[in-house]
Amino acid sequence: MGESVLTAGFGRVDGTLHCDGVPLDALAARVGTPSYVYSAQSIREQYARLSEAFAGAPHRLHYSVKANSSLAILALLRELGAGVDIVSGGELFRALRAGYSGSGIVFSGVGKAEAEIEEALRADVLLINVESEEELRLVNEVAGRMKLRARIALRINPEVTVDTPHPYTRTGEKGMKFGIPHDEAVRVASIALGLGHVLLAGIDMHVGSQIALFGPYEMGLQRLLALLEQMRAAGASDIRYIDIGGGLAVTYDTERPIDVTQFGVRTAAMLAGTGLELIVEPGRFIVGNAGVLLTKVLYRKRSGGKEYVIIDAGMNDLLRPSHYNAYHRIEPVTPVGGRIVADVVGPVCESGDFFALNREIDDVSAGDILAVHSAGAYGFVMASQYNSRPKAAEVMVDGDRFGVVTERESYDDLIKGEHVIPRWSAL
Ligand SMILES: Cc1ncc(COP(=O)(O)O)c(C=O)c1O
Repeated sequence: MGESVLTAGFGRVDGTLHCDGVPLDALAARVGTPSYVYSAQSIREQYARLSEAFAGAPHRLHYSVKANSSLAILALLRELGAGVDIVSGGELFRALRAGYSGSGIVFSGVGKAEAEIEEALRADVLLINVESEEELRLVNEVAGRMKLRARIALRINPEVTVDTPHPYTRTGEKGMKFGIPHDEAVRVASIALGLGHVLLAGIDMHVGSQIALFGPYEMGLQRLLALLEQMRAAGASDIRYIDIGGGLAVTYDTERPIDVTQFGVRTAAMLAGTGLELIVEPGRFIVGNAGVLLTKVLYRKRSGGKEYVIIDAGMNDLLRPSHYNAYHRIEPVTPVGGRIVADVVGPVCESGDFFALNREIDDVSAGDILAVHSAGAYGFVMASQYNSRPKAAEVMVDGDRFGVVTERESYDDLIKGEHVIPRWSAL
C-alpha cells in the first residue's frame, strides 16, 4: 500500500488509514462501530477555501445545517465566522445551542409551520426565506401579532434545469415544490411591499445539490437580477441580500468538484455595482469529505455466485447509497492485500440495505474495520433507528486528539417517550 491521501483529512501512515493524526483502527477499538469520524482540520480548510474564493464580493457564508447538524461542527464553524442556513425549528434550536445569534441565521424551507415562524422571529433571524404567497401572509400575520417587522427574502424558483447525479437533488426546475414560481415573483414582491409587518430585504434561490458547473448558478443569478430590477422599479428599495443557495459539488468518486475560485470570481463580477451582499449556503462542500463512517466487517458469504461483505453499519446509519444510489468509496483501514468483487451490505432487513453493489474493493475478512468515505454530509443527519438499531456515535478529530461529540445511543434511547400502556384520554 503506497502513501495516499484519499480525501482531505484522511490518508495512510505506514499502511493504516488515519484521520489527521489519529489511526482509525485504534479509534474504532476505542469508540466502537459504526461511528462517524470528522476531521476538524478538513472543515477549516474547506471553509477557508470558500472565504478566499468569495473575497471579491461582500458576502456571508451560511453553512447549511441540514448537511450535518452536530453541535460540535456548528460550533467549529461559528468560531470560523460562519452563519447558518436552517430549515426547521429544530435546526434553529441547534444553531442557538451552538452559540449562533439570530443575525447569523437565515431560515429556508418550503413548509415552515406557524410555530417555527414565531420561534424564528423571536430569535430575530437575519432573513426568513419565504417560498409562497400564503407563507408571506402568515409571516406578516405572526410578525404583526408580535409587534415587529420580519426581514424576509423571496425564494424564487429560477426554473433552471440542472444535471445533478440524482433527480432528488434537483430543486430549481420549473414545477418543483420549492420557491415562488418565476413568473409570480414580481407580483408576490408587490404584495410584500404592501404588508406592514414584513421588510423585503432579499431574494433567494437554490438550484440543487452536487452541482459542478457555474452555468446553472449563472443562469439563475441572471434571472434573479432581472427580477430584482423589476422589483426595484415596483418600489422594493430595501433589497440588499442575494442568496444563491448551496449545492457546490465535491468529489465522491472521480467526478469533478466545483472550481470555487472561478465560482467566486464570476459571481463577484455579476454582482458588481448592484449594491447587493451575497449569501451562499454551502453544506456538502464544507463537510462532505471531512467525514467517514467507520464500520466493522461482520461476515463474508457467497450466494448465487456472488460475494457478500456484511458490515455492522446499515442503511439506517447512512441512507445515501440506497436513497440516492450514491457512490461512497469503501476501503479497509488496514488492507492485507488482494482484491475482490462484492456487494457490501448492512444488517437491515431490506434488500435495499447496501453500500456498494458488484464493487471491486480490497479483500476483507470478519473483524476488519472499513472506512466508508465522503460520509460527512447527509450521513448521520439522515440516520434513523429502523430495525430498532441505536444511532451511531459521532467523533471529532483535531490533530492527534479525538473526542466523542455524539454518544452512541443505548437501547433505552430506542424507547424514549414510549408507553407500554397507552395514557388513555377521551375528547
Ligand atoms: C435551501 C438550501 N440551501 C442549501 C442547501 C445545501 O446544499 P448542499 O449541501 O448541496 O450545499 C440545501 C440542500 O438541499 C438547500 O435546500
